Amino acid sequence: MPVNAMYPGTFDPITLGHEDLVRRAANLFDKVIVAIAANTGSKVPMFSVDERVAMARDALAEIDNVEVTRYNGLTVDFAEKNDLRVIVRGLRAVSDFEYEFQLANMNRHLTKKVETAFLTPTEKYNFISSSLVREVAELGGDIREFVSPSVREALMERIRA
Ligand code: COA
Repeated sequence: MPVNAMYPGTFDPITLGHEDLVRRAANLFDKVIVAIAANTGSKVPMFSVDERVAMARDALAEIDNVEVTRYNGLTVDFAEKNDLRVIVRGLRAVSDFEYEFQLANMNRHLTKKVETAFLTPTEKYNFISSSLVREVAELGGDIREFVSPSVREALMERIRA
């Protein structure tokens, strides 16, 4: 029986750290849905959800068993509706653990049908976050090491606007 997974997040924008994690997940599961949250809670995104989806699709285009989509509402509802049995999340450092543990436990209380699996990105990406990349770009720093060329282009364009 195929095991399909979702990798949910804000992806504002997708970074090479996220891409690394998607590749690892794609090696483990039959299909990986990168699910981009339209409702971002207290985060005010730089890019609209459609822009975030387009950037992620472009960055992940060459991985066959990966799809990118947007979703609204609860992550576990999306997972159940689409028969995704695993939620993949990244753990970059110990500091991620508390928040991720809380999310995973809440999701487990919401449904018994979905498990959370944690993966770690390669060490060279374990300090990257979307907000840090945005900040470095806004202040004129070089972000080539952190995002794909098309994401960098989109970021530079948004900053110039
Ligand atoms: N490489 C680089 N950066 C990474 C990363 C990796 N491998 N893994 C996480 N990050 C960064 C992200 O860039 C982000 O940084 P930022 O805060 O600077 O933007 C941060 O770590 C965490 O963001 P992300 O992975 O996008 O997750 P999130 O915390 O923004 O998303 C949701 C959380 C969307 C999954 C969660 O809020 C959710 O499920 N929402 C839907 C509603 C719901 O179900 N709520 C109940 C939850 S129990």
